Amino acid sequence: MAEFRKTSALMARGTEFLGSEYAILCGAMSWVSERNLVSAISNAGGFGVIACGAMTPELLDAEIAGTQALTGKPFGVNLITMHPQLFDLIAVCARHQVSHVVLAGGIPPKGSVEAIKASGARVICFAPTLALGKKLLRSGADALVIEGMEAGGHIGPVSTSVLAQEILPELAADHLVFVAGGIGRGEAIAGYLEMGAAGVQLGTRFACAAESIAHADFKKAFFRASARDAVASVQVDPRLPVIPVRALKNKGTEEFTAKQIEVAKLLDAGEVDMGEAQLRIEHFWAGALRRAVIEGDVESGSVMAGQSVGMVTREEPVADIIAALMAEAEAALSQRVAA
Ligand SMILES: Cc1cc2nc3c(=O)[nH]c(=O)nc-3n(C[C@H](O)[C@H](O)[C@H](O)COP(=O)(O)O)c2cc1C
Repeated sequence: MAEFRKTSALMARGTEFLGSEYAILCGAMSWVSERNLVSAISNAGGFGVIACGAMTPELLDAEIAGTQALTGKPFGVNLITMHPQLFDLIAVCARHQVSHVVLAGGIPPKGSVEAIKASGARVICFAPTLALGKKLLRSGADALVIEGMEAGGHIGPVSTSVLAQEILPELAADHLVFVAGGIGRGEAIAGYLEMGAAGVQLGTRFACAAESIAHADFKKAFFRASARDAVASVQVDPRLPVIPVRALKNKGTEEFTAKQIEVAKLLDAGEVDMGEAQLRIEHFWAGALRRAVIEGDVESGSVMAGQSVGMVTREEPVADIIAALMAEAEAALSQRVAA
């Protein structure tokens, strides 16, 4: 701890809240953030988060138990707000006395925040704007994550640097705000901590750690890629909405554009109705992240990655990644000119 005195001091509110040594969360990544990576992050002093994704309550139950078998340190569970069994999943977390639940994917449905808090767990929510952040805190969120469009996976339209400037000065003094999106080195962590962040959340930097079960070809694709290869999905027709996702460009991303043009033409010709057309777009990526992460299909699968992917160059143990981030943050803070 003494090694990273300045950084740890700025992280104090975050570490107290998370119960971890460092206020560095590894954001939930579907298929990647399972028991091995999550326990490794928490054992190394960070804060791991299980990605529940589309898991059934039974699968989540097994994953939490499996993680608890590998670490005695705190970790969180990320639940997607539109999961049809959200309240059953909350009950599973409560049964295992999970200390922190992260609600992702939209405004939490009525009663969900209360249900989590009734179990004694803390609730962390994603705040896409300042107004929504304030609303979420009023509704009982204990902490917020603000995530910029540099991030891997599903993204909003605004960059991390702008969100941080809009939200931290307003909320960080009185509330816990964690910053995510595009963070690859400790110097950036130092900067956001100085702006008032309680800590940070990274995904891309941890996805290919030695303890990550991601397929070797998925990891190789990360090591080869540079920032400009991690692109946001493109929408070609306003009638056919596309949920923006940042992933490495590949044959799949090209085919997705072609698919949208093909479906738009069918719609123009009256050969499919709007519902069917939108369904065809929605279904294009079904199972694609699993194909990339687990099967190593990096050509047609969805290789979700953030722009910091260029800073991921080799497979390293989680503990080394965290130590490097903390050392970089500490060096940056130590070099600041004293007033
Ligand atoms: C492969 C991958 C899968 C992800 N899956 C999820 C997910 O299931 N749920 C979620 O809330 N965020 C997901 N994310 C976002 C991460 O939790 C994290 O917030 C993000 O990666 C942080 O930004 P960074 O990638 O720039 O470090 C995913 C990110 C990646 C790279």
